[in-house]
Amino acid sequence: MASGQLSRAEALACKGCRHACHVMLYCDTKTQLFGKIPLRHIILMQMRFDGLLGFPGGLVNPSKETLEEGLGRELLEELGVAVPISVEDHVDSRYAPTPLPSSAPLIAHFYVKKMEEEQIIEVERAAVTTATDYGQEVLGMVRVPLYSIRGSAGLACFLSHSFIGHARSQLVDSLLRFGLVTPDLLHKALRHSLE
Ligand code: APR
Ligand code: MG
Ligand code: MG
Repeated sequence: MASGQLSRAEALACKGCRHACHVMLYCDTKTQLFGKIPLRHIILMQMRFDGLLGFPGGLVNPSKETLEEGLGRELLEELGVAVPISVEDHVDSRYAPTPLPSSAPLIAHFYVKKMEEEQIIEVERAAVTTATDYGQEVLGMVRVPLYSIRGSAGLACFLSHSFIGHARSQLVDSLLRFGLVTPDLLHKALRHSLE
């Protein structure tokens, strides 16, 4: 296990910790930008109420629900459609930054789930039509550009925005872990995003 990570059992054993679960939903696509640049995958993130980019999900209460049930409840509120998440979709659990040093420790549980393209498009539609949180906790869904145009446009530019908690590193790690971009494209994007 990488440093700073907790096993699921360690995380759940923490007395007095708060827990948050978020998920990266994605699919493959054959769509091309400008009819020539392959988009390859649709990865869903959201513009949050605080102006930061993040993944759908939120606070869960493990004394009343499993992590995955709590995540499913948050997804229904934020996406307007049921997206079942299972233990197999769990990627890692880590302590997350808290706004005040006096706040109870927060453990962030991260999941990744691959879906069909039609399901992802349905999630995007529901997020702006039936989701109760639309326009409040969630200001809109965004797709992650997975290509590079003229060096800094595309992924590099996207990565230079501001992200909540571990969302940026969760995105970057997942791009590599799930083979969604080449290591070369990612390294160039990371370099440009810091310039
Ligand atoms: N990595 C680590 N921490 C994260 C991540 C992430 N990817 N995404 C969010 N967090 C943190 C947030 O900073 C927040 O403290 O997890 C906590 C809960 O996540 P939210 O999605 O913001 O929670 P949600 O239940 O959807 O929103 C309800 O949470 O942010 C507060 O006060 C805010 O009323 C709101 C409440
Ligand atoms: Mg929420
Ligand atoms: Mg949330």
